[in-house]
Amino acid sequence: MNWKGRDVVSIRDLSKNDIEFVLNVAERLEEELKKGSLDYARGKILATLFFEPSTRTRLSFESAMHRLGGSVIGFSSVANTSVRKGESLVDTVRTVEQYSDVIVIRHPMEGAARLAAEVAEVPVINAGDGSNQHPTQTLLDLYTIKRAFGRIDGLKIGLLGDLKYGRTVHSLAEALALYDVELYLISPELLRMPGHIVEELQERGIEVKETTKLEEVIPELDVLYVTRIQRERFPDEEEYLKVRGSYQVNLKVLENAKESLKVMHPLPRVDEIHPEVDKSKHALYFRQVFSGVPVRMALLGLTLGVLEGI
Ligand code: CP
Repeated sequence: MNWKGRDVVSIRDLSKNDIEFVLNVAERLEEELKKGSLDYARGKILATLFFEPSTRTRLSFESAMHRLGGSVIGFSSVANTSVRKGESLVDTVRTVEQYSDVIVIRHPMEGAARLAAEVAEVPVINAGDGSNQHPTQTLLDLYTIKRAFGRIDGLKIGLLGDLKYGRTVHSLAEALALYDVELYLISPELLRMPGHIVEELQERGIEVKETTKLEEVIPELDVLYVTRIQRERFPDEEEYLKVRGSYQVNLKVLENAKESLKVMHPLPRVDEIHPEVDKSKHALYFRQVFSGVPVRMALLGLTLGVLEGI
């Protein structure tokens, strides 16, 4: 499988074989890391271009590159860059690729990562573009599920919260369509999963149930994937106020869940998972955070073409 130089812009660009390959490489890297530091990417430079805030995605990419023995440059806000002087995205990418071997980009505009990938000679990895896609989050989500359950096929997975603006659930639903799962889409009416994604899931033979009521479906679920209401994406604050606080997963809500239910969240959370859940057997979200490092090590190593023989 030739990954060297490949862009990772949308989960739709990856086949099931591609996804499984990345997850397997990530697992091998996680094992190798236990023995000490690695140097697969010695002499290589990652550039992180974050036009939007991030804690986990940026820092886990940076951690991943350091753990591979490589170096990192980049910015975490445009405040001190020439974007402030009016420099275009295309010129920024064409400049940064002169300094680096791989670019990771997060941008508020849907399609920004695709544009960056079209102009850059070096591989470009999408770290989130508007409400569109967050493919590396999806890969770490799948990795987390597989490590927890030993499989993805056969699971009943609920996606809860902002299914309209949440890019993590768009990418994740599209990836889960490649597996044999049942999907429960749980959201306020205003924040339903876009119709084109639901249709695509159904066309691929996935059993999809849409509901506004978490309590009706929670006893069925193996995984409950909770998302934040994406306040920053609402065109109108009044609309946000109508759906703010629609759901909160707490120990009372979880009383009706299977013993084995795992609660996931891409984070950051606001109030949709009560902190009392953190120490319960259901909480998987900080293990999910950890998965970001081996999965992003795999993606960086593969796109840089430095993992031969692993
Ligand atoms: N999950 C995620 O994308 O988190 P950050 O916004 O902190 O990167």
